[in-house]
Amino acid sequence: MALRTIITAPDPRLKVISEPVQTVTDDLRRLMDDMLETMYKAPGIGLAAVQIGVPKRIIVIDLAREDETKGPHYFINPVITWASPERAEYEEGCLSVPDLYDMVERPARIRARFLDYHGAEQEQEFGGLMATCLQHEMDHLEGVLFIDHLSKLKRDMMVRKLLKVRKASERV
Ligand code: NI
Repeated sequence: MALRTIITAPDPRLKVISEPVQTVTDDLRRLMDDMLETMYKAPGIGLAAVQIGVPKRIIVIDLAREDETKGPHYFINPVITWASPERAEYEEGCLSVPDLYDMVERPARIRARFLDYHGAEQEQEFGGLMATCLQHEMDHLEGVLFIDHLSKLKRDMMVRKLLKVRKASERV
């Protein structure tokens, strides 16, 4: 496994629409292993392949806390087949939007169809943080960040902060 570099906003590579995976191969599983390792190291609870510059429809998620046993989930070509009318609000963050958080409202429960780590088709229903996290990661596949759900005013403010942090780090 190898650590990959996580791209941070604003970056045009995060706006790319990811391509569907044709076949789940060993190479693809190695990529997912790298994604998971990169996500754990960050640390984060979800990562889409496009965030490491690979525009393929692949997501890894692990909601386990540091002191808990790891429980990785893999989603290849995920599609939402049902979303609840009830909505839920969570404070979201993103490894591509470092250190910035805000409330985002999404459907509280979803059902999703996807291929798992072994390329087998799955359909599962998710609620709570898992539902939010999967929807957040699926947004990445369409080139959408959580800050795109906020008002233009808030989004512009966050982008300015990100650029300021980047400039400061470029000086050292
Ligand atoms: Ni994200």
